[in-house]
Formats: sequence, C-alpha cells, structure tokens
Amino acid sequence: MSLTILYLYPQTILNMKFTFYGHASFSLETEGKHLVFDPFITPNEQAKDIDINKIKADYVLISHGHQDHVVDALAIAQNNDATIISNFEIVSWFGEQGHAKGHPMNHGGQWQFDFGKVKYTNAVHSSVLPDGTYGGNPGGFIIETPNLNIYYAGDTALTMDMKLIPMWTQLDYAILPIGDNFTMGIQDAVLAAEFINCDKIIGVHYDTFGFIKIDHEQAKAAFAEHNKTLHLLNIGESIELK
Ligand code: NI
Ligand code: MN
Repeated sequence: MSLTILYLYPQTILNMKFTFYGHASFSLETEGKHLVFDPFITPNEQAKDIDINKIKADYVLISHGHQDHVVDALAIAQNNDATIISNFEIVSWFGEQGHAKGHPMNHGGQWQFDFGKVKYTNAVHSSVLPDGTYGGNPGGFIIETPNLNIYYAGDTALTMDMKLIPMWTQLDYAILPIGDNFTMGIQDAVLAAEFINCDKIIGVHYDTFGFIKIDHEQAKAAFAEHNKTLHLLNIGESIELK
C-alpha cells in the first residue's frame, strides 16, 4: 500500500512553485491550485512582459487595500472566477466592484481551504482602497499546506507579533518586504527572519519606485551573515520551493 502511495504521489508533486510578478506580486502553485498574491502588474513598467490575462488563479489573496497591491486583482479574479481572500472590508469592496466570490477574514482567524489552512496575521502599516474606501486593517498570511508552510508578511514594519508565528507554525519559507521607507528594510527583515525562525526568505517590495531601491548583493550578504538565504527573483522567474 505504501509503495502505491509513493508511486502515485512522487516528491515532485509535493513541492510548490513560486512565480514573481514584480513588486509584491507573486503566485504559489500547490497541488494544482494557483494562489495569486497582491497583483500590481499593469502599472509596473518593470513587469511589462507579464500578461495578466495569462495568469491562472483559483484564489487571489490581498494583504491590504493599497493601490500597489490590488490594482489587477479584479481582472485576475474575474478572468478565472477566483475566490478573493482578504480582510472583511476588502472582500466587501470587491463585492461592490462586481466580484462577489470572496472569503472574508480578520486578524487571528484561520480557515481551512482546499489547498491548505490560512491564518490572517497582523501587519503594522495602513490600508485604504484606491477610491478612498476604508480598507480595514492591513495583514499578512500564514499558509499551511501538506507540502510546505509559508508566511507572506504583506507590507509591514518589524513587529513583536512576529514572535508568535513559530508558536503556531514551523515555516519553510517567508516572503518579506525588504525595500525600506514604506516597510521593513533589510536590517529589520533579517530580525523578522529571526523572530519567525525561518532561514529561507524571498524578498519583495523593493526596486519598484525610487524610495525602495536596494543593493541586491548587500541585502543577500546581510541575510547570509545570519545563516539565512535571501532569494531575489527576476520578474517572471519561477522557483521550486522545497
Ligand atoms: Ni501598502
Ligand atoms: Mn505597498
């Protein structure tokens, strides 16, 4: 019986694919489900080679209401009849925009989806939607799947609350903002990686605008000093997470 299971579910299926779309936009593919996060692609000149109409999504996860996290969410959700996962206010706002298929959450809550369990976590930031509507409180996501456990912090400062995460979940990867000015910079992101007890970090929210340009080699070296790996992907690049 166990041989049959191994044959039907070889290791390659159990891994996860991460694709970077620039800024803080990315997707995770896990066991055939496509999760798209914070899509901000069409206004981003650096992401001009990404065609949002080719992006597959079963779920679109939105960390907070800012323009640079929601701008392509409606189109991608509608193209794919995807479920939007975010806080209550943002899911309600997309409902008013004509996309009623959503799953509202709020801080500290979790829900078992068909791809895994999602917990909506605290972020220290702000969250207003592009038309001025109140966007609720900003957040991040812990995603526990049968394959890997992932944390996407959203836009946030370093917070003491991050120290709670290892009490809930042993993380395999964390996706952290590192561009400074609007979010954590490199030094605080290294501390965040310590707080969450995670050695494999994917950086986001850097280089898109003048205020958040970073030195890639310096950033990688800062993580390496703490025996951690910082992955910085090219826009459009995919890596296998394992
Ligand atoms: Ni923001
Ligand atoms: Mn942002």
